[in-house]
Amino acid sequence: MFGRVVDQFGKPVPHTLVEMWQANAGGRYRHRNDNYLAPLDPSFGGVGRCLTDDQGWYRFRTIKPGPYPWPNDPNSWRPSHIHVSVMGPAISTRLITQMYFEGDPLIPLCPIVNTLKDPDAVETMIGRLDMAHSNPMDCLAYRFDLVVRGELQTYFENQ
Ligand SMILES: [Fe+2]
Repeated sequence: MFGRVVDQFGKPVPHTLVEMWQANAGGRYRHRNDNYLAPLDPSFGGVGRCLTDDQGWYRFRTIKPGPYPWPNDPNSWRPSHIHVSVMGPAISTRLITQMYFEGDPLIPLCPIVNTLKDPDAVETMIGRLDMAHSNPMDCLAYRFDLVVRGELQTYFENQ
């Protein structure tokens, strides 16, 4: 996944901290409270952090997380997603969101996604497949820009 952190005018936010955490390919987190039946992957931690560059770009090389069941009802599933935190316009602002993967049929079925009444807010949380930035015979790329404020702001769950 990769993208740009920008303000409401599209101006890049350079040298800001972006962090991510996610389940492994089987949908399991490396966390003591996660008892899902999928095995842990000994080669995968599930967390990362980096600073945006001069132009606000960030990039993580990772694996696509699997969906996992959510105990909302007996057959609720979270779509594949990557949790993302970004430091916003003020140093004290930590903004937290999730990136979903474009085209995932679980997105509209997700009880967490459906707590958002605004479909535009959901759209801001969808990473877009970007074939131009994929590495042939190696990995796909999903672009996920983070807009830290303004009308087109990414939906942040802690605001
Ligand atoms: Fe999650």
